[in-house]
Amino acid sequence: MEVFYYIAMFTTLLFLLSKHYLIKPSQSSPPGPRSLPIIGHLHLLEKPFHRTLTNLAKQYGPVMFLRYGSRPVLVVSSTSTIQQCMTTNDLAFGNRPHLTVGAYLGYNYSSIIWSNIGDHWRNLRRIITVELFSSARLQMFLSLRVEEIHYMIEQVLLKANYDYESFTRVEFKSMFFELMLNIMMRTIAGKRYCGEGVEKSDEARRFHHVVSETMYLMGASNLGDFLPLLRWFDFQGLEKRIKDTHRERDSLLQEFIDGGNRHVIGDHGVGLLASPEPSNGPKKAKEEIDAQVGQRRLLSESDLADLPYLQSIVNETLRLYPTGPIVIHESAQDCAVDGFEVRAGTMLLMNVWALQRDPKVWDEPNEFRPERFEGSEWDKGGFRLVPFGSGRRRCPGEGMAMRVIGLTLGLLVQCFDWEREGENLVDMSEGLGLTLPRAKPLVAMCRPRLAMKNVLFEQL
Ligand code: HEM
Ligand SMILES: *[C@@H]1O[C@H](CO)[C@@H](O)[C@H](O)[C@H]1NC(C)=O
Ligand SMILES: *[C@@H]1O[C@H](CO)[C@@H](O)[C@H](O)[C@H]1NC(C)=O
Repeated sequence: MEVFYYIAMFTTLLFLLSKHYLIKPSQSSPPGPRSLPIIGHLHLLEKPFHRTLTNLAKQYGPVMFLRYGSRPVLVVSSTSTIQQCMTTNDLAFGNRPHLTVGAYLGYNYSSIIWSNIGDHWRNLRRIITVELFSSARLQMFLSLRVEEIHYMIEQVLLKANYDYESFTRVEFKSMFFELMLNIMMRTIAGKRYCGEGVEKSDEARRFHHVVSETMYLMGASNLGDFLPLLRWFDFQGLEKRIKDTHRERDSLLQEFIDGGNRHVIGDHGVGLLASPEPSNGPKKAKEEIDAQVGQRRLLSESDLADLPYLQSIVNETLRLYPTGPIVIHESAQDCAVDGFEVRAGTMLLMNVWALQRDPKVWDEPNEFRPERFEGSEWDKGGFRLVPFGSGRRRCPGEGMAMRVIGLTLGLLVQCFDWEREGENLVDMSEGLGLTLPRAKPLVAMCRPRLAMKNVLFEQL
């Protein structure tokens, strides 16, 4: 972190020369650590950010004021403060900060994720809500989802050598990734992205690279965003990487739209379909599925409503491993949180990860315990589980994501027996990037269930 002190010294000198720049939080600002001139609190921000911010909040409270260089930042970390930002204040906090990554990967802040609240954003929301995520559309695309999920189950069977006697080691991160991508691309563009083969074509490698770069760059902090002077130097090389990724993505998408190539993508995983420790839930989830669905037909989406334990496993997974651990907005107007004044143009970091592991909110918060969702008691007071956000900017893909995750997990439990690879628990350590990607591949031992042999043969 010494680099920050050099930057501080260097920039202090320059800025003092132009002497219009001194950092002085206003009187009614929320508490926060002491800031350094120019760089503010950037020196405190070790990765992973959600853990660092959680530790800072333990010291300074659930509403905390920081400065990322020239940018004012509000960090909220508790049920009540996150609730205020996502409900009463959700219009005031409806913007997104203009970070360099949004200038390129968000097409000059015009994509739905990056655009500020306003008519353009409302239009995009309306279009995708109607065209992609309405219940009519979800129903229309049902067979497509089922096809893709069944295709994935077939791939697992293949990797398990159709061996109904013994366990085989299977890696899932890449399969989940391809599944989600194929469903999204078929829903949006009507075409599959990953072919049948596992060979890595040139397009596969390029696409893999674009997706992993995008995930990384959206989560990386580009110091040039916070210390404008540094943009001239781009000493982290991030701006160049953003531009390169943008160019590469556009050319791949163009080829895809033109339909010339069949893209086969290789293995890569994001946290989109985090899966629970295989040893834990499936004991019990299997009993539930066997009782509700039986072993004469494959589980379907319409069964999910009758499988509360399976849903609890999904909820518990999204509680411990929210795909977006820090949800980032920006205030469009002055407003107040817990009585503290917040100015327009303040970047808002909602630490959903901290809230969902808050010992004041959850018993034994770090334990994987789906049982905690039994009954309706767990949601007393609300706003304890918000992996999809809430309010105007909440994730529009929630319904689709929950259906896909539920059906995939349900079928994996119904059709296979599971064991851990060794004595050790599955390594859930976190990689870097916006979507809380897994650091390590998700490996488990699986064996097709003999009782399902006929059904698998006939119905897949
Ligand atoms: C487990 C799966 C998923 C999780 C946990 C998740 C979570 C989130 C979160 C936390 C946000 C930010 C909300 C906010 O800023 O307040 C978000 C936004 C968004 N999500 Fe998801 N998401 C998931 C899957 C999906 C899928 C499958 C799609 C689309 C096919 C999708 C599309 C979007 C879009 C377009 C936004 C931006 C909305 C806006 O800015 O107005 N998400 N998601
Ligand atoms: C980005 O958008 C702003 C305002 O909408 C516009 O002034 C600017 O020229 C745009 N930049 C590029 C590179 O298109
Ligand atoms: C899972 O969480 C959602 C809120 O995100 C809730 O509506 C649902 O009832 C929960 N399901 C179970 C089985 O706890």
